[in-house]
Amino acid sequence: MKKITVIGTGYVGLVSGSGLADFGNYVTCVDMNGKRIKSLSSGHIPFFEPGLTEIVERNMAADRLYFSTDVIGAILEADVIFIAVWTPMDSDGSADLSAIKDVSKTIGENIKSYTLIATKSTVPIGTGEIINSIISEHAPQSTIFDVVSNPEFLREGSAVRDFLFPDRVIIGTDSDQAIEIMREIYRPLFLNETPFIFTDIPTAETIKYASNAFLAVKVSYINELANLCDATGADIHVVARAMGLDGRISPKFLHPGPGFGGSCFPKDTRALIHSAETEGVELKVVKAAADANEVQIDVIIKKLEQLTGNSLNDERVAVLGLAFKANTDDIRESRAVVMVDYLLSREAEVAVYDPAAMSNMKQLYPDLDYAESVESAVRGASAVLVMTDWNEFRGMDLAHIGELMDKKVIVDAKNLLSREQLAENGFAFEGVGRPYNG
Ligand SMILES: NC(=O)c1ccc[n+]([C@@H]2O[C@H](COP(=O)([O-])OP(=O)(O)OC[C@H]3O[C@@H](n4cnc5c(N)ncnc54)[C@H](O)[C@@H]3O)[C@@H](O)[C@H]2O)c1
Repeated sequence: MKKITVIGTGYVGLVSGSGLADFGNYVTCVDMNGKRIKSLSSGHIPFFEPGLTEIVERNMAADRLYFSTDVIGAILEADVIFIAVWTPMDSDGSADLSAIKDVSKTIGENIKSYTLIATKSTVPIGTGEIINSIISEHAPQSTIFDVVSNPEFLREGSAVRDFLFPDRVIIGTDSDQAIEIMREIYRPLFLNETPFIFTDIPTAETIKYASNAFLAVKVSYINELANLCDATGADIHVVARAMGLDGRISPKFLHPGPGFGGSCFPKDTRALIHSAETEGVELKVVKAAADANEVQIDVIIKKLEQLTGNSLNDERVAVLGLAFKANTDDIRESRAVVMVDYLLSREAEVAVYDPAAMSNMKQLYPDLDYAESVESAVRGASAVLVMTDWNEFRGMDLAHIGELMDKKVIVDAKNLLSREQLAENGFAFEGVGRPYNG
């Protein structure tokens, strides 16, 4: 079994590391965040991800999973190093590769014998080549290594399952030895006939951006169609369902809402556009999807303003859902955060509730009214905004919610609630692309 070091113990690094340990490998996850590593070593998972605690505990107990801040020590003992550090958006829209470059230098300075370096972080086309040259520059002349692009497709909220049962695994490399090692690491997936795509590094890097940008296009497309439905009186849910029954289209990612957020789609679309521009290629479709996404939140804001008569000053507004989607505590680029910013700019009294993301939000906005339940968030509110598709919100007792509120106004930005029940309970309400003619 291979000794693996995963550098970067965030959502991707921790899930991949514990998943690789579950496949039978010996894994050390390292991070420069000492607090994170300390709490992981004592069995505390630093973020909310269903099933993650179990897989981490299981592999720690089996002595296959370790945590450390000693990056150099972990590089020295590794057969394989996965890079899973962040690649945030830079001010010009490009991916900031400084962490990737730092780590590559440290790897180069410390590898002593053949090592395979696999990139899990989402990186622009050509980054494999950059990693290769940084390691070559710093490694002793005789040291042999291979660089592999192994992009990760897990989704927060179902990350553990996505890692253990992926739709496909992409291996980009020009080395036969590296292919053999990757096969060994992912052996259980070969046995259950998961599709593997072996290709070169630039193609592997392109696959990741191409996939995320395509999904972003789908989301922006359905959002714009929903806006059209609002204008025409058609029902976007019926439109999307009927579209999705066409096998060429598929029903996935046809859910209208306030726009996509999260740590991937916004930055990856912008990074792809930027990369293409530097190659002299204009990706008009992806650009349109990214631009449409930025203004989709305005559609929700306009609905709120219309329902409240545009007077939010000193009014209590409850925001239900802060995470960028259900089953995660991640608020990066969440549209709910954009909405909170807007409400604060209008001097509303903002109450928020989210089943998992409140502590992340508190670090950024310590002064909001953090409610312990839906009921306490909506009590006395003049309007409620549903911003995240948590199941808990689907089952809300609307009669009771209406009794608690000061004014019965709901903007359901995720179309979770029954229009009929909202109407029956006397709410003034709006969804996205589902005008109610009751
Ligand atoms: N989150 C997702 O759903 C997802 C899915 C697929 C791919 N990705 C990609 O994977 C990468 C990581 O994403 P994430 O969401 O796990 O990020 P994250 O912010 O949760 O974690 C990144 C980790 O890297 C660590 N780190 C940064 N620089 C370091 C360094 N020099 N040395 C050691 N540790 C360092 C940070 O401390 C942090 O713990 C990104 O490129 C992202 O685009 C993310």
